[in-house]
Amino acid sequence: MISANYFPLTCNSTRISIIGAGKVGSTTAQRIAEKNIANVILLDIIEGWPQGIALDLMQARGVEHHDREIIGTNNYDDTAGSEIVVIAAGMPRKPNMSRNDLIKINAKIVVEAAKEAIARSPQAILIIVTNPLDVMTYLAWENTGLPPNRVMGMAGVLDSSRFQNFIAMELGISVADIKATVLGSHGDLMVPLPRYSTVNGIPLTDIMDTETIEHLVERTRNGGAEIVKLMQTGSAYFAPASAVSVMIESILLNQSRLLPCCAYLQGEYGLEDIFLGVPCRLGCRGVEKIFELDLTDMERIAFMDSAELIRQNIEEAKAILR
Ligand code: NAI
Ligand code: 2OP
Repeated sequence: MISANYFPLTCNSTRISIIGAGKVGSTTAQRIAEKNIANVILLDIIEGWPQGIALDLMQARGVEHHDREIIGTNNYDDTAGSEIVVIAAGMPRKPNMSRNDLIKINAKIVVEAAKEAIARSPQAILIIVTNPLDVMTYLAWENTGLPPNRVMGMAGVLDSSRFQNFIAMELGISVADIKATVLGSHGDLMVPLPRYSTVNGIPLTDIMDTETIEHLVERTRNGGAEIVKLMQTGSAYFAPASAVSVMIESILLNQSRLLPCCAYLQGEYGLEDIFLGVPCRLGCRGVEKIFELDLTDMERIAFMDSAELIRQNIEEAKAILR
């Protein structure tokens, strides 16, 4: 007689690895497992921590009714064969810190984590979450040598979701009917685009006055800082984990969603050799296409300012790594 244990838990053995089992990493693991998208390997530098989180998530299965495996580990060998690697390792911001203050601490962590993980999963698609996002994504790409379509950063989905939420709250309309677009860097110079934001197809600029829109744009730019100020000892993680999960889902299920991602530009928007937030089609090959929007002079200047700051920060980070 064949024992029930003979069979793997699921026939679908798709696995993703999340490096950094902190707030963002562990919440992302929860979302992915509970949505039944993939098995999850959760790696952290702290011994016992990812194993404990993984066991806790596994113990929820009796209630959540999914058969996904979540494995906690401190050993990169356990991540081998992952289809997607998410890097959420490193420090979050403290009050009065900018995301750029994190460069010194996080650059080495991200580069090492990306190299270790990709060495075991050379076919993987890499999604960076660690801040400062655009800089860390560039470093991970440069140091792994992966083709640009297989490296991306998560920020635009989160920033757009924040903008959508604030618009919905202001209008008293379901967030399901709101679409919002945020491009550029994940930082103070991000570029929310009210002209490309709609309420069930109606341009936002037609149903909301300029002053209110500007207020919501500013709140979106400060969306992360507002939460850091309230929490004092950490930064946002529920919405960031939801945002990463949507990207993972679009890739693994080849959904071809159009999502704003931090992607490598090769002439698009007149920029080269930089990672910046732009609308992308995300499918099984990663960033499959970048869409160029027509920008007004003001929007273009804001986008270029965003790019200029990222370039400076990339140089700063490279100097730290030398
Ligand atoms: P956290 O402090 O809760 O978790 C970070 C984890 O990384 C810790 O468990 C720590 O032990 C681990 N870690 C540190 N060095 C490591 C290494 N060398 N190898 C493996 N693991 C290591 O922080 P949280 O809130 O999860 O945030 C993680 C990062 O994500 C931060 O840099 C934060 O700023 C960023 N973030 C980015 C967002 C975005 O929109 N791109 C949104 C939210 C957070
Ligand atoms: C955020 O925007 C900390 O970047 C993170 O919440």
